Amino acid sequence: MNRSVLAGIGTSLPTRLVTNVELSARLDTTDEWIRSRTGIRQRYVVPPGTATSELATAAARDAMVAAEVTAVDVVVLATSTPDHPCPATAPDVASRLGLTGAPAFDVAAVCAGFVYALAVADGLISTGVATSALVIGADTFSTILDPTDRTTRAIFGDGAGAVVLRAGAGDEPGALLGFDLGSDGTGHDLITVRAGGSRQRGSGPIVDAADVYFAMLGKPVFMQAVLRMTESSQAVLKRVGWELSEVDRIVAHQANLRILHAVADQLELPRDKMLTNIDRVGNTVAASIPLALADAEARGALRAGDRVVLTGFGGGLAWGSAALRWPDLDRRDPPMISSL
Ligand code: UT7
Repeated sequence: MNRSVLAGIGTSLPTRLVTNVELSARLDTTDEWIRSRTGIRQRYVVPPGTATSELATAAARDAMVAAEVTAVDVVVLATSTPDHPCPATAPDVASRLGLTGAPAFDVAAVCAGFVYALAVADGLISTGVATSALVIGADTFSTILDPTDRTTRAIFGDGAGAVVLRAGAGDEPGALLGFDLGSDGTGHDLITVRAGGSRQRGSGPIVDAADVYFAMLGKPVFMQAVLRMTESSQAVLKRVGWELSEVDRIVAHQANLRILHAVADQLELPRDKMLTNIDRVGNTVAASIPLALADAEARGALRAGDRVVLTGFGGGLAWGSAALRWPDLDRRDPPMISSL
């Protein structure tokens, strides 16, 4: 019993739907540009006042119901839009779930966050520190986007996804079999929120009003995303001893449909092995991999025993991949729209 096994998956999306057409009415963009450059048709955003913890809690509850558990030993929350700079959001989420007392902490690895959090929880389980864990990816990027920036507004959406892990054996369906993780801080300025940290406090003089918002240099990030997710997928395959031809599905961070296609092409994998839900939810940052997994499971695109590679890339720069055998889960509805 020295492996962790995926036992249930849950999701939460806010009710407010923003279509490309609606965005085009407010910004200098078009449905055609957004669809052809990113693959996105719509995204969901939280109403004012709704925080990441609320989406995270709803997704975690959904995952616990799916896994038929009422408690877990540890809560790991991947997010880069915490409720507050301090403290971490995970303890609040744990308490709302009735898990006061359990270790709970945030992992900040932006769009690679879910894979990082999965690796941390897997480590806690495989070393016997915990026998079960909730791994949540939740972000509300709509709260940190420049309302006038047509590029980032077109891409990002809010949401949360969560999985329950339990201790199990490596030959069980659902077993996490290996990870590859990496970072390159020389690229830290490609994806940033400049103000609000110790380098430029939110309370002091802001050098540029735009510094309080999320900023991304799209082109170099695009190239790095393709390179890192390709290399990291290859690295994790090597680690677990799978040939590329044995991979049934890749679930990559839903950054941009063109990025997903480019990674598939670089790996020389048929594009239909690369699962996507970006058209419906946009880029949901740390939530994107679990939301895509839940969508694929609900549509029957993931089958018990499938060899699955997860791969993520984002700010940091940070990237990571995981390999697992898909578990035999009870079929559920497509990702739920919560009442948030
Ligand atoms: O999730 C973490 C990592 N993030 C990513 O992986 C995102 C990676 N980057 C991308 O997905 C793409 O670079 C973007 C979607 C952000 C941009 O697409 P692009 O094809 O790289 O466009 P571009 O930045 O080269 O811009 C091309 C043109 C520019 O106009 P000019 O200078 O050619 O006149 C932009 O101003 O498209 C313009 N543009 C837009 N036009 C209409 C940028 N955003 C928009 C927009 N609507 N929303």
